[in-house]
Amino acid sequence: YFLGIDLGTSAVKCILVDDQGTVKSSHSVEYPLLQPQPGWAEQHPEDWWQGTAACIQALLSKSGVTGQEVAGIGLSGQMHGSVFLDRELQVVRPALLWCDQRTAAECDWIEEAVGGREALGRLTGNKALTGFTAPKVVWLRNHEPENYSRTAHLMLPKDYVRLQLTGAFGMDMADASGTLLLDVANRRWSPVVTERLNIPMEWLPPLYESNDVAGHLLPAAAERTGLAVGTPVVAGGGDQACGAVGVGVVRQGIASVALGTSGVVFVHDDTYQVDPECRLHSFCHGVPGKWHRMGVMLAAGGSFQWWKNHLAFEELQQAEAEGRDVYEILTAKAETAPIGSEGLLFMPYLTGERTPHPDPKARGGFIGLNLRHSKAHLTRAVMEGITFGLRDSMELIEASGIEIKELRVNGGGARSLFWRQMIADIFGYPVVTVNSTDGPAYGAAVMAASGVLGQDISDLCERWIQVVDRVEPNPDSQALYQQYYDVYKTLYPTLKSTLH
Ligand code: XUL
Repeated sequence: YFLGIDLGTSAVKCILVDDQGTVKSSHSVEYPLLQPQPGWAEQHPEDWWQGTAACIQALLSKSGVTGQEVAGIGLSGQMHGSVFLDRELQVVRPALLWCDQRTAAECDWIEEAVGGREALGRLTGNKALTGFTAPKVVWLRNHEPENYSRTAHLMLPKDYVRLQLTGAFGMDMADASGTLLLDVANRRWSPVVTERLNIPMEWLPPLYESNDVAGHLLPAAAERTGLAVGTPVVAGGGDQACGAVGVGVVRQGIASVALGTSGVVFVHDDTYQVDPECRLHSFCHGVPGKWHRMGVMLAAGGSFQWWKNHLAFEELQQAEAEGRDVYEILTAKAETAPIGSEGLLFMPYLTGERTPHPDPKARGGFIGLNLRHSKAHLTRAVMEGITFGLRDSMELIEASGIEIKELRVNGGGARSLFWRQMIADIFGYPVVTVNSTDGPAYGAAVMAASGVLGQDISDLCERWIQVVDRVEPNPDSQALYQQYYDVYKTLYPTLKSTLH
């Protein structure tokens, strides 16, 4: 078996996959998210390790698989979070997470320090965004100099867990791409950026490709988890790269839309490609020697969940209490309203935005309400607004001339056929779903299998991951949505100054 671990923001999920790619068992353990001030988001790295150890133990016991039967381990994790360790490998302070928005001033400083936004784009393939890691390091130096002076090591969330498992430092290039310290084109730390930002190169761990074995299980970790001493642990990847591998986005021409709390449009690149204004993230892929670009919407499923929790239909509470699938009920209501929700548009910027509007202060809104609108219209407008916002990212990807043959939709939102058809119609591509539905944890297990068996990630994906459903765009619906999308695109630029 191969163990895939996905260290998420609300919980860690562990799965066991057999040598035919079939998921034998899975388990999750939650941990708290700290929000000490508005816009801040932190977690205790110790909680991640305790949660992971407990999760592995529970998984082994419920599946009846012994530690000796686990041939390799792969890690996926929430990206960008800053884990600061001192010389004794003790955690200096809670980690600042990907969704923490406190570093706007540090982002401006970083762009200036490296000689402007274009220079930063040339050096790293990306622009300075509040969620990324380097601004968090600069924030620590500016606001907690004592903690900064104690720091001796910087790593990302899942790399801290690998350190506990193996005692070895390491980071994969896919996750390292989101630090803003990586020369993404050349797959190495950027000496220029680290020097200009005055971040010690010694703090940074050695880099690996995602399927490289980056350590072996320590006796202490074996005791905590029930796994066997010496089990190989591969580097793994950030959750986006792992999620893409987990649905087989490992070849040119395949893209994906991940509909979780955040929404991500992701495309595989055989060569290094960068958007001229760095509105997309250009990152190393979890497939060795390959890259990917992606656009990130911060509140995709998050907007839909907000609508469900606070404003949608009262009967949902009853349905939820009865254990029914409330999203199924909601999407059925949405379906009763026509395409375009009779002129009602929704802006999904409920927690600021990243792509294509990198604006931590952006806000959401319904535009175009009139007396004809019912909650069904509003529900449909929320789904359409999220999907229009994701198309913004796809348009940036398309601008490079890349040919996309197929969109693989995954995450919670992929369960709805109505939403998949909406994506096909708004994006204009066939939308498919695949048999693997365990997300980044599955990708991490594929990486482990690849590293241990010595087989290519793309070959394993080919064998293990099959398309199970395909939806074609409907030309009439496409034309209708296009009219509304044209209006949607004007909303943020027009309303920006009033929404802050
Ligand atoms: C990607 C990103 C998110 C987090 C969520 O850039 O910020 O996908 O990794 O876990």
